Amino acid sequence: MQLVYLATIIVLVCQGHCGVIQNRDACLTTPDVPFQTNRKLPNPFRFEDGTNVTTKEQWKCRQEEMKRLIVRYELGDLPPPTKPENMTASLNNGTLIITVTEGTKTISFKAQVTLPTEGTAPYPAVISYSKALIPIPSNAAVIFYNSEEIAQDRTESSRGMGKFFDLYGNEYRSKTGGQAAKAWGLSRLLDALERNPSFGIDINRIAVTGCSYTGRPALVAGALDHRIALTIPQESGGGNAPVGGEGTNCWRLSEDPMVRCEGKCISVCGTVECPPNPSPYSPAFAKYITGRANVAELPFDHHMLAGLIAPRGLYVIETDIDFLNPLSSVGCMEAARTQWEALGVKQNMGFSLVGSHQHCQFPDSQKGELNAFYDKFLFGKDVNTDVFRNEGYRKGGNWRQWMDWTVPTLS
Ligand SMILES: *[C@@H]1O[C@H](CO)[C@@H](O)[C@H](O)[C@H]1NC(C)=O
Ligand SMILES: *[C@@H]1O[C@H](CO)[C@@H](O)[C@H](O)[C@H]1NC(C)=O
Ligand SMILES: *[C@@H]1O[C@H](CO)[C@@H](O)[C@H](O)[C@H]1NC(C)=O
Repeated sequence: MQLVYLATIIVLVCQGHCGVIQNRDACLTTPDVPFQTNRKLPNPFRFEDGTNVTTKEQWKCRQEEMKRLIVRYELGDLPPPTKPENMTASLNNGTLIITVTEGTKTISFKAQVTLPTEGTAPYPAVISYSKALIPIPSNAAVIFYNSEEIAQDRTESSRGMGKFFDLYGNEYRSKTGGQAAKAWGLSRLLDALERNPSFGIDINRIAVTGCSYTGRPALVAGALDHRIALTIPQESGGGNAPVGGEGTNCWRLSEDPMVRCEGKCISVCGTVECPPNPSPYSPAFAKYITGRANVAELPFDHHMLAGLIAPRGLYVIETDIDFLNPLSSVGCMEAARTQWEALGVKQNMGFSLVGSHQHCQFPDSQKGELNAFYDKFLFGKDVNTDVFRNEGYRKGGNWRQWMDWTVPTLS
């Protein structure tokens, strides 16, 4: 009886993504953390109960623990996975229509699929949250996912609007943020591709991208759905724009006056710090980010959000525009990369900041890196993807100053 109970909990907690777990107890419990103020970035290699992570298997459990904390406190809960019998999908002349039914409610949403003119099916695909703003390989499909149909979160007044909320109603309006809802829609899109091989897309060779406001939910989708082989958030940093939140930036670093655009953000935001837009996040998260007063209490930060992607591919594209708060991203992603480093696959996570161009314009000088990530994760080629590049200001910063932990080599 107890064994059955235990097994059930493990299945619920890990949702089948944990692989073989040796340290079951650690994977089972996420204590209701008594929050402690910590101005440094929390340690991804220590469980909430204080135990060190020493093996790769344990880290999978730690990863689940970090995921539960981020979902619970920042993104907001999502409903259990949609059952196959409650979903249909059709693809006609490039229009993919996905219909989901829950109880008495039904929604349908569309995605545009452009198959490549080169190569043979099943094709790899790049799913973009906006019109693709990075080059797409000529032998990969491009899928445009209009996430704003699923959830609107440009301002707090649009919280709870969109098809996810039409389907799941008030229960989820009061707990789920826009980015989690958008990730739910993307997961249904992946379900549709996975269950319909005739659509011609290879579910094992999927990349997801978006820029700025759409780059942030692309990062979240990569963190929450293990089927995404490569996540490419472009210029998602952004703590200070009026519709801002944090993508590849860390909340703590963006709040640090030494980081915050070296004081230059004032010109973007007026005389006070622009508050982040809370609607991409769970309603409960507002208390941590309003006025940015309480971010140091969070038991996680975005180095861990990025770390949910490890050991899968992550290529972070940034630039040096002030309102994106680029120094926060450099420090945050340096900390994030330690998780791939500890797993012995540092090269699966790339960071590249190249400045002096328009927002969301992709510079030619990053093409080689981007193509290497495509080659490795969409085309299975053995190429070098080891990149950590900062061509913005303050190149030589001590980015590890926000880490009071060391990086273990996990066995
Ligand atoms: C946990 O790891 C730290 C190093 O990061 C070490 O100083 C500490 O002694 C370890 N704790 C235990 C109980 O092994
Ligand atoms: C297919 O879509 C293209 C544009 O995307 C349109 O021009 C064409 O008329 C469509 N064909 C059919 C049969 O609907
Ligand atoms: C699945 O869809 C059917 C109708 O198609 C509905 O009766 C049932 O309640 C749905 N299941 C769930 C879990 O919502």
